[in-house]
Amino acid sequence: MQSALVSGGNGFLGYYLVTKLVKEKYDVTVVDDLSTSKDISYGDEVTFVRKRIEDFVSKVHFDLVAHLASRPSPEDYSMNPVATLMSNSTGTIRMLDIARESGALFFYTSSSEVYGNAQVIPTPESYNGYVSPNGIRSCYDEGKRFSEAIAMAYHRQYGLDVRIERPFNVYGPRIREDGLYGRVIPRFISQALKEENITVHGKGDQTRSFLYVDDWLEASWRFIVSPDGSGEVLNVGSEKEFTVLELAQKIKALTGSSSGIEHTEKRIDDPERRSADIGKAKKLLNWEPRTSLEDGVEKTINWFRLRSK
Ligand SMILES: NC(=O)c1ccc[n+]([C@@H]2O[C@H](COP(=O)([O-])OP(=O)(O)OC[C@H]3O[C@@H](n4cnc5c(N)ncnc54)[C@H](O)[C@@H]3O)[C@@H](O)[C@H]2O)c1
Repeated sequence: MQSALVSGGNGFLGYYLVTKLVKEKYDVTVVDDLSTSKDISYGDEVTFVRKRIEDFVSKVHFDLVAHLASRPSPEDYSMNPVATLMSNSTGTIRMLDIARESGALFFYTSSSEVYGNAQVIPTPESYNGYVSPNGIRSCYDEGKRFSEAIAMAYHRQYGLDVRIERPFNVYGPRIREDGLYGRVIPRFISQALKEENITVHGKGDQTRSFLYVDDWLEASWRFIVSPDGSGEVLNVGSEKEFTVLELAQKIKALTGSSSGIEHTEKRIDDPERRSADIGKAKKLLNWEPRTSLEDGVEKTINWFRLRSK
């Protein structure tokens, strides 16, 4: 039986990856400190360790080490910059060492945020980024960039099989919408369903490209099992770009909500445009997203509706 260690495995994306691994008959250990996820999602099918990844020690052999633990929401990570940097620095090194001891494949969820306020749109992997090294978002952006650097150093120096994924705004059922943890799609859906104002930062002319979680899982799995994935860095996202205002209007229409759209203060260092160049993923994985924004948002709305019953 193959075995896998998944940090942050109790979170939104972690849950989908862990469920897939269990289905593929992996013996899975999840390490998660529940800092951004709430209830433990698993029973006996998974070994669950509640711990910060920086403090996790293991001598167990793993075939796959997937490092997802991080605080991903700007509102939340800007209030917890030290913890955010720790999970993407000390935490990454801890996970790399565990992978190295086992000779495991190391899969890392970096982020499209490594591009910062990208000047090349759609953004290919070869674009090196336009990032503030010490601004309010640097704890996340630079943590991800450091993690990529140290992962590639382990690949080059120790021959570790390292695979770095840069997801672009993934959404879908199970994503958290409450408090500081909510990201743009779940926040808008939640506001629309409560008939509260949908709050758009600034004019809402900043763009994002959104990826439905089933498409993310398909790409991630193909990347993990690809014979050509070692040492690769891959955008996993959508080429379709929407303004945040368009997104708010779409969600208002799809929920049939009477919510108004309220413009709030523009966020500091908020990227102006975001769109993925996925030419490399198409070639390497023979993959492209299948779910339209309308279909994905509708499925997510249905999940939120069921959950609130
Ligand atoms: N969802 C997206 O759109 C997206 C986009 C780009 C990158 N990512 C990256 O993918 C990964 C997973 O994101 P997600 O959307 O599932 O977020 P999430 O908040 O739902 O899950 C993250 C999980 O990590 C745990 N965690 C955080 N810090 C930890 C620590 N120090 N030690 C142990 N556990 C810790 C949290 O409790 C949570 O369960 C993150 O690394 C994130 O940066 C996500």
